[in-house]
Amino acid sequence: MNTLENIKTEILNCKKCSLYKERLKTVFGEGNPKAKIVLTGEAPGASEDKRGLPFCGAAGKILDELLESAGIKRKEVYITNILKCHPPGNRGPRKKEIKACAPYLDRQIEVIKPKTICTLGNYSTKYIFEKYGLKNEIQGISKIHGKVYPVKFKKVYALPSGIEQFKGVKIIPLYHPAAALHNPNLKELLKKDFLTLKEL
Ligand code: URA
Ligand code: SF4
Repeated sequence: MNTLENIKTEILNCKKCSLYKERLKTVFGEGNPKAKIVLTGEAPGASEDKRGLPFCGAAGKILDELLESAGIKRKEVYITNILKCHPPGNRGPRKKEIKACAPYLDRQIEVIKPKTICTLGNYSTKYIFEKYGLKNEIQGISKIHGKVYPVKFKKVYALPSGIEQFKGVKIIPLYHPAAALHNPNLKELLKKDFLTLKEL
C-alpha cells in the first residue's frame, strides 16, 4: 500500500541512484501528513544529511522565518525535497538522480493530497510543472515566482492511482530560500510570495 510509512521504509534502503553511497541519512520529509500545503525543495544539504530532517540548516532557518512572517506554522505544512539523499559538495541534482528519486515525491503528494504545492527553486519547479501539465509555462524562477498555476488536468500521470483529484490544485513556484541567504532583496520578495501562499 502507498502510505507515508511504507515510502519512508523504502527510502531508508534505497540504492536507486549512486547518492546512496555517500549519504549519512536519508531525508524523507516531515510535517503534517494531511497538510494543505506541500513545499518541495531540491535536495538535502550537509546539515540535513547529518540529521535526516529537511530544511534544518541555514536554508531551513530562512524558510522558518518566511513561514513565520506569513503566519504559517511549520508543523501545519509538509516539507520535503525532490532528492532524498545529499549530493556531495551540494552540487545540483542530476537528471538521472531526479528520474530515480522523484517517484517518491510523487507518491508522497499522492498520499497527502495537498491543495497547494509550493516548489522552491528551479529544479523542483521544472519537475512539478512538467508532471502536472504546466510544461509550457516553465520559465526561470525570476519570471514566475509568486504566481499561482492551477492544475488543469483531471489526472496526473505521475501518480500510480491516476485518481482525478488534481484538477484545481494550485502550484506556486518560489525562489529557493537559500538564494535569500546573502540577498536581503530576495528575502523581501520571498516574504511577499509567502503571503500569497498564506492567502491560498
Ligand atoms: N536545501 C534544500 O533544497 N533542501 C533542504 O532540505 C535543505 C536545503
Ligand atoms: Fe534512492 Fe533517492 Fe537516495 Fe537516490 S537520492 S539513493 S533514488 S533515495
